[in-house]
Amino acid sequence: MDLDIGIDLGSSRTRVFVDKKGIILDEASVAAYNVAENRIIAVGDDAYAMIGKTPDSIQAEYPLAGGVIAQSLLAEDMVTILLRHVCTSKIVMPRVVASIPGDITEVEKRAVVNAISSFGVRRVFLIENTKVAAMGAGIDIMSPHGTMVANLGAGTSNVAILSLGGLSVHKTLKLGGNDMDEDIVKYIRKKYSLIIGSPMAEKCKISVGCLSEPEEEKTFRVKGRDAISGLPRFVDVTSSEIMEVIMETAMQIVTLIKDVLEEAPPELVGDVYSDGILLTGGLAKIEGFSQLIADNTDIKVTVAENPEDCVILGCGRAINYIAEVERNAKSKNDINPLMAVY
Ligand SMILES: Nc1ncnc2c1ncn2[C@@H]1O[C@H](COP(=O)(O)OP(=O)(O)OP(=O)(O)O)[C@@H](O)[C@H]1O
Ligand SMILES: [Mg+2]
Repeated sequence: MDLDIGIDLGSSRTRVFVDKKGIILDEASVAAYNVAENRIIAVGDDAYAMIGKTPDSIQAEYPLAGGVIAQSLLAEDMVTILLRHVCTSKIVMPRVVASIPGDITEVEKRAVVNAISSFGVRRVFLIENTKVAAMGAGIDIMSPHGTMVANLGAGTSNVAILSLGGLSVHKTLKLGGNDMDEDIVKYIRKKYSLIIGSPMAEKCKISVGCLSEPEEEKTFRVKGRDAISGLPRFVDVTSSEIMEVIMETAMQIVTLIKDVLEEAPPELVGDVYSDGILLTGGLAKIEGFSQLIADNTDIKVTVAENPEDCVILGCGRAINYIAEVERNAKSKNDINPLMAVY
């Protein structure tokens, strides 16, 4: 019996889709290990809860950064343990569709394949995350109609114009929600002499972060440690204040989108102008991002429904192309969105 699964190995979250079941895992891409014994003690959300709170003997880290694997052994352990929850049979070796950023080197691809293969899989098929994001949002990417997608995550922003199952233009920037969190950490330290960790900054971004004039001014209580006295302290920050802090990073993403538009082939420009730009990925949820992009491009911008799940749902849809790839393994001319079979 075949078991086909999809994996979205993201910089901040790992999601798994199992054919005929749906999304059955969505956990933080974090692994915590005992340094002296080099032994994993927790992965996923359990390991995320340890960030910033670990004693010297334990480290909790993200094995991925900028959408690619930064620590391969840690990534292998994390993926293996997470997949064990999903695929309990020791006999069935799954076929896996995994999403990757658009601009990725052969070495980086290999690292993804190795991390997944360490679990014991039959085959790994890679697919660009903009392609699966569009599929997950219900778009027919095989049609000759052009679709522009911006998949905005924690570590990467991927923008592409798709047509006929392929990427006509695409650009990737290793910049995303994590960089906004860092912007907030630095600002709070500089302005208020308060030291906070990235998880606190992320909470602040999610609750009051916005990128165009907020409908209502919200406040968020940032808790940390005073840089001088070392004692716990808090400050209240507002939406408009945080908007200024994260705007520069957001504008780099806007520039990326404009760069892709400038390179759009004339035949597809009309489609993009009439349909607009589709935003997917968790960062698309930040209030006012679609407005900021629309104001700077003069193009309509739509945020997909549950944007953070588009990539994994698309991986689930891309599973349907596996059989075709395996049947037509030798034919070169067929359009198939899956690439790089390992
Ligand atoms: N409601 C929200 N408001 C603002 N930001 C949000 C919200 N929900 C999630 N995010 C941010 O979205 C990012 C996570 O998005 P996503 O899950 O698409 O990333 P990822 O796939 O793990 O990363 P990448 O694709 O870059 O490797 C994080 O930076 C998170 O803080
Ligand atoms: Mg992602």
